[in-house]
Amino acid sequence: MSETILLAGGAGFIGSNLADYLLAESDADIVILDALTYAGNLMNLRNIVNNTRLRFIHGHIENSEIVNHICTRYCISGIINAAAETHVDRSIHSAAPFVQANIVGTQVLLDAAVKYGLRFIQISTDEVYGSLGENGTFTESSPLRPSSPYSASKAAGDMLTLSFVATYGLRASITRCSNNYGAYQFPEKLIPLMICNALEDKPLPVYGNGNNVRDWIYARDHVRAIWAAYKFGEPGEVYNIGARCEMRNIDIVKMILAILDKPESLIKFTTDRPGHDFRYAIDPSYAEMRLGWKPQAVFADALKETVEWYINNDEWLTAARSGEYRNYYARQYGKSF
Ligand code: NAD
Ligand code: TYD
Repeated sequence: MSETILLAGGAGFIGSNLADYLLAESDADIVILDALTYAGNLMNLRNIVNNTRLRFIHGHIENSEIVNHICTRYCISGIINAAAETHVDRSIHSAAPFVQANIVGTQVLLDAAVKYGLRFIQISTDEVYGSLGENGTFTESSPLRPSSPYSASKAAGDMLTLSFVATYGLRASITRCSNNYGAYQFPEKLIPLMICNALEDKPLPVYGNGNNVRDWIYARDHVRAIWAAYKFGEPGEVYNIGARCEMRNIDIVKMILAILDKPESLIKFTTDRPGHDFRYAIDPSYAEMRLGWKPQAVFADALKETVEWYINNDEWLTAARSGEYRNYYARQYGKSF
């Protein structure tokens, strides 16, 4: 029997990439529940909006009435939770929306999954493990040491999920992925922000000395892993998802400038992020072994494809950068940017 998945946060970056993938590569029907916050955008669904296997419901995951209604009305068989507040810098300005969406919202979805006996995937992040030094990698048994309100709220959501497995026998698994890049990423995160600013010859704000390291994965590789975890993952298990692609921020910024043929003089080092994690690095061996999944993209090629996507999606970019984004940008980067 084919599945009907409640995809929470399906109008965001990862959620919309996952919706595209599921409609193309699986038999599953999808009901998206999304609050359309500043990061959610119906334009992210424009290629699939007419697909009869997709429904969109506007609402918050904290609203148990809507969640319960969807589960019964559409005979939901599983929930994949991609709904979250996701930007570290915003969580430093205000933690409250992160607690609301990432903890309370997760709890409401978990309650519904128990009530209706559903499979559950909690999409999480390697940031729950905190920061690494020069060496080592995160494994599934690394201790949780979150250092931002964002990562702390994600760690709390993970703990709630595992507690529901132990207490209620919920069939839930967690994916913890490294930094993603690709089409539809909101231009507040490093890669799309640098592409957009470079396209307009605006300064590229690099925090601190630019030596912080992130481990990058193409969003399309991540969403394949999420679906593999849904199908083949075991209840109570955590799967670290990554592509063994560590890069210093400064090197990525220089690569973007080279692709666009823009000068490195656009780089502007700026005040460091408070509590800035130095390095993330995921060991994805366990997920590869248990889920039969492997990342496929080559970073240099996929980065180029991503840059081209932003160049070719001017209308999307203009919409994303209007309104609230302007206030955020002025508050975060100040007048000199
Ligand atoms: P995003 O900010 O692009 O999208 C989040 C989506 O959730 C938006 O559509 C937004 O409208 C929706 N949303 C927010 N609060 C909601 C609420 N209360 N109710 C309903 N909808 C709500 O985020 P993303 O990058 O797509 O991240 C999705 C998930 O993947 C998050 O859990 C994040 O922690 C995880 N993740 C992201 C990355 C990354 O690099 N982007 C890496 C690892 C893990
Ligand atoms: P980000 O995309 O916000 O992801 P995360 O903090 O969740 O890893 O940032 C990635 C890295 O880029 C991180 O080390 C902070 C750095 N960064 C900058 O140097 N300048 C910026 O304007 C932004 C948004 C991030």
